[in-house]
Amino acid sequence: MADQGGFPHHMIKEIFEQARALHDTIVPRVSLDEAAVQLREVRINPEELRALRRINIVASGTSRHAGMAGQYMILELAGVQVDVDYASEFEYSNPLIGPGELTILITQSGETADTTAALREAKSKGSRTIAISNVVDSTIAREADGVIYTHAGPEISIASTKAFSAQMAALFLFALHLGQTRNKVSRDLARNYIRELLALPDKTNAVLRCAAECERLADKYHQVEDFLFLGRAIHYPIAMDGALKLKEVSYVHAEGYPTGETKHGPNALIDEALPVVIIATCDRNDPASVVRYEQNVSNIKGFKKQSGRVIALASEGDSEVSGLADHTIFIPDAPELLLPILEIVPLQLFAYYMAVRRGLDVDRPRNLVKSVTLE
Ligand code: BG6
Repeated sequence: MADQGGFPHHMIKEIFEQARALHDTIVPRVSLDEAAVQLREVRINPEELRALRRINIVASGTSRHAGMAGQYMILELAGVQVDVDYASEFEYSNPLIGPGELTILITQSGETADTTAALREAKSKGSRTIAISNVVDSTIAREADGVIYTHAGPEISIASTKAFSAQMAALFLFALHLGQTRNKVSRDLARNYIRELLALPDKTNAVLRCAAECERLADKYHQVEDFLFLGRAIHYPIAMDGALKLKEVSYVHAEGYPTGETKHGPNALIDEALPVVIIATCDRNDPASVVRYEQNVSNIKGFKKQSGRVIALASEGDSEVSGLADHTIFIPDAPELLLPILEIVPLQLFAYYMAVRRGLDVDRPRNLVKSVTLE
């Protein structure tokens, strides 16, 4: 899988490998009949999982954005408080963690120095540790108490794409497993979620059909030097990663922000020169998602009044958002907690085509490396 397989760059090949990465990460671990999730390698017994008081998630870069999405999944499905930290900050924040707590280290390479240091710090303070890694027998995978491997295959491009969506799937599997272990998730709910997980690869391939549209957007916006990416709740980490992708590969400045926070400052920036990418999907079966959707519609109306240019991600068939935004990319329906895995795809494609249109070395952006093994 490590060659370019006929694609012009590893990044676009890896974006198109996401359905396979999700399939290989999810399918071996779920049983629809038993409504069960099997995470053998986690190696933390049910009693300990039931006794957990708090979970820390520590990671760097894109992997931390997966952790931010995992925070919402674990809170919703298992009712356990989660803190998410930058690995590079964790080691200096003298974290008040100890026995009875779990620290999850998310790392594609399993070799990032900051994350390795955070793992060792957490272990020295008595915390149990789980690694979510894409490289078998990597340093962090070996030293953690338990591991959940993402089966995304080798990820060559410096900007992480298929590993990221596989990390979110792995976190969802863990959250579902934890929720079942703590009797927070019924068999029916578990079975519904497993059915939705198994549908993700096909939905990911469906979203990939927006590639040509993302290429057209990149052509239209390729000279813009600044973007604002907005998302609420579990969609905020996706806004963060969409902005990071754009920065990493196209050298265009972009900021990810919680949509509700734009009125406290960033709104002063929004005019015809600063395009806004807003995640405005809606899970109609989730009342909280519907409330957030209405707020997002109101935000889009406000941005248009300020002559802002709006690129929106909306749910398929949503004519309200598409009637307001300058461009709309449609996302297939899925439960709120799984939508982020689909939403990141157009943002990855947009960043990729912006980099190509700007004539840059997409797979090897300047000043960056695939795994920062030195602190
Ligand atoms: C950066 C990579 O160097 O390290 C990012 O460019 C990645 O894509 C980050 O998210 C963390 O790496 P890892 O291997 O710990 O997930």
